[in-house]
Amino acid sequence: MLSKIAGQFIYVWDFLFPATYQSNVKLNGKTVVITGGNTGIGKETARDLAERGAKVIISCRDIKKGREAAEEIRQEIKDANVIVKQLDLASFSSIQQFAQEIQRSEPQINILINNAGVAVCPKSKTTDGFELQFGVNHLGHFLLTNLLMDKIKASAPARIVNVASAAHFIGDINFGDINMEKNYNALMAYCNSKLANILFTRELAKKLEVLVDQSSRQRQQQMMLWRKNCGSSVKI
Ligand SMILES: NC(=O)c1ccc[n+]([C@@H]2O[C@H](COP(=O)([O-])OP(=O)(O)OC[C@H]3O[C@@H](n4cnc5c(N)ncnc54)[C@H](OP(=O)(O)O)[C@@H]3O)[C@@H](O)[C@H]2O)c1
Repeated sequence: MLSKIAGQFIYVWDFLFPATYQSNVKLNGKTVVITGGNTGIGKETARDLAERGAKVIISCRDIKKGREAAEEIRQEIKDANVIVKQLDLASFSSIQQFAQEIQRSEPQINILINNAGVAVCPKSKTTDGFELQFGVNHLGHFLLTNLLMDKIKASAPARIVNVASAAHFIGDINFGDINMEKNYNALMAYCNSKLANILFTRELAKKLEVLVDQSSRQRQQQMMLWRKNCGSSVKI
């Protein structure tokens, strides 16, 4: 109950006083994969990373929108290295196809930004039969991250960023009814999907800690919560 009240307060606070993160760190030689990079927070992030020298792979469900966004970035930033690839997070087969293509074409992935999301949708399902918001916002990114994991680990120092939300404070997942078949509520489904983003990040941090420690004691890793950025990240 207390965490729900705190969550609502933080949500309103973030809305009224949005914070921004800025960095001048150069990213030349680094490769970034960002989901939903054709608009909103994803496009702004792609633009910033391209400006700092990264190779940015914008993945989006509508390739035409992605190409338009990439063109816009190229027009603004001379020498921007931006590539567009098709990815529908509501389809496991699309995610598998995208991951296979990335595995083939990219020697390294230094940053994976799981940004794409849908919010407060009418009751609907992914191709594979999961509630849409949980499926796209969490399950799709969960599968994508795991399919790219070996390459990300081999590219260390690397980072995985899961874009969550203060809405996660309100989340209350019923694991007995993960698709909310019995009592669908569009807002709660969104909050649950964002809570799943946070739980995934925490678990990932624990597992990567073990893996990184085993492979190299010199590699630092840490988990940071970027609440102001509505995100959470794991550094490998
Ligand atoms: N905006 C906020 O105030 C806010 C606050 C807290 C957290 N967030 C989080 O920030 C992230 C980005 O939000 P935003 O406001 O930038 O949203 P947005 O402008 O609506 O953009 C969402 C992106 O996700 C893509 N997307 C949706 N369904 C997809 C699917 N099935 N497969 C692949 N891509 C898909 C969209 O593609 P299309 O263009 O084709 O629809 C779009 O590129 C989300 O994870 C959201 O939960 C946002």
